[in-house]
Amino acid sequence: MKLEGKVALITGSTRGIGNEVARCFLQEGAKVAICGSKEENAIRAMQKIKEDFSISDDKVLAIGVDLKNTESIRDMVEKVINTWGKIDILVNNAGITSNRSLLESSDEEIYEMFEINLFSVLKTTREVVKYMKDTGGSIINTSSMVGIYGGKNQVAYASSKFAVNGVTKSLAKELGMYQIRVNAVAPGVVATDMMKDTVNENMKQMLLNMTPLQKMAEPKDLAGAYLYLASEDASFTTGTIIQVDGGLVM
Ligand SMILES: NC(=O)c1ccc[n+]([C@@H]2O[C@H](COP(=O)([O-])OP(=O)(O)OC[C@H]3O[C@@H](n4cnc5c(N)ncnc54)[C@H](OP(=O)(O)O)[C@@H]3O)[C@@H](O)[C@H]2O)c1
Repeated sequence: MKLEGKVALITGSTRGIGNEVARCFLQEGAKVAICGSKEENAIRAMQKIKEDFSISDDKVLAIGVDLKNTESIRDMVEKVINTWGKIDILVNNAGITSNRSLLESSDEEIYEMFEINLFSVLKTTREVVKYMKDTGGSIINTSSMVGIYGGKNQVAYASSKFAVNGVTKSLAKELGMYQIRVNAVAPGVVATDMMKDTVNENMKQMLLNMTPLQKMAEPKDLAGAYLYLASEDASFTTGTIIQVDGGLVM
């Protein structure tokens, strides 16, 4: 088991990619805080995981957090510290998206995108690093292929993910002195609720035609990249952005 004895906090782990990463980390021996926008969502996700695997109660924690609220972020981190005494792995995964051109985007939509996709990453990382700096650890941010190549009618989303890549590289430089590694995973198109809400059938077919591996990723296809970055296998890897997109963009 690659994560025995480790404690992981994963934002956005009630559904989609984050939920699959939580399942993978638990199976590799980690204790995992499952976080969602509401406590009941996190509890539901935790119960489902417990039904699916035989995991003891002391291995999972369910936390509701409003990532737009600094106090709520602080409470989330404190709950993990008060329960397990440390955080070895932070996955900043929660995110929102929208398919809007700049002219269609209101101030509120642009601010919300940055509030959740970028500012919460900075705030959560700051709160976690207060503790992680004494032990070292691994921070993994979920970026996106459009955070590397841009995306038509996705300017707010894409630019928030470009910024996440900037955070990843800058914090890799800043936190290396504490033996904290900071990396990102940039998914292509993954079959989650987010994808269903934003990619229509035509777009899906077009993306499939452009993907050398000729399939849509399931969250399971992503989990291995997170496990690698969280584990000692990546002990000398920091500041990288791993694309996991079936070869869609290269
Ligand atoms: N799916 C793709 O094709 C794709 C591609 C590239 C990058 N990504 C990135 O991958 C990450 C995960 O995406 P996904 O597709 O797995 O998303 P998803 O299925 O829509 O799940 C989103 C998660 O984020 C949580 N969340 C959303 N807003 C929140 C808030 N204000 N406060 C706290 N938690 C909040 C949700 O919690 P609740 O369940 O409580 O609502 C949920 O756990 C995102 O950063 C996304 O940008 C996804």
